[in-house]
Amino acid sequence: MKIDAISVFPEMFDSLNHSLIGKAIDNQLIEFQALNPREFTTDVHKTVDDSPYGGGAGMVMKPEPLGQALDKLVDDRTVVIFPSPAGKLFDQATATKLSNKKHLVFVCGRYEGIDQRVIDYSATKAETLELSIGDYVINGGEMASVVMIEAISRLIPGVIGNSESLVEESHQDGLVEYPSYTKPASWNGLDVPEVLLSGNHAEIAKWRRQQQVERTEKNRPDLI
Ligand code: ADE
Repeated sequence: MKIDAISVFPEMFDSLNHSLIGKAIDNQLIEFQALNPREFTTDVHKTVDDSPYGGGAGMVMKPEPLGQALDKLVDDRTVVIFPSPAGKLFDQATATKLSNKKHLVFVCGRYEGIDQRVIDYSATKAETLELSIGDYVINGGEMASVVMIEAISRLIPGVIGNSESLVEESHQDGLVEYPSYTKPASWNGLDVPEVLLSGNHAEIAKWRRQQQVERTEKNRPDLI
């Protein structure tokens, strides 16, 4: 899969070069590049933002540099993603769908956001989504993109060594994951649940399912 990001802070994507996603980039399962829209500015200050029409606080990202960056990267098979707290909630189902695409472009806003015409223009060229990683506001689209890129990339065959670990994890079946334990069986007066030491696989599966339901009811009643 090819993934591009358009960002005035391309270094914020450096974390992708580590761990399993870093390995997938090394192994060419994923090709990642970050493009700075300042490259498409023509003034000495390399201006990418301006004050909002209609007034209000903060600055808005200008359409021309982002539009030119899109022109350079996007074709009709691309999915363009605008991370935004005003977008649809990004979830595991969205991650799964996007993991089957050939090319994703993340367009990162800073300041008060992006001129709406950039999003409208993108929609005339390719499938375009506005996605939020949660009901809170962070300072820009970069870290939201990193979160989405990691969630999507790990679903690409070959990125995670043991693909079974993808089956038994939170949100894959609408429930959160069961708790995990490792050695020692007793630590600081806290014991691993008996059933996990029993070797009875049917009982272990039953206990884990029960734990998933209980944990989901307690922590995420909205999922039930
Ligand atoms: N940019 C700022 N906040 C965001 C959020 N919650 N999700 C996606 N992009 C964002």
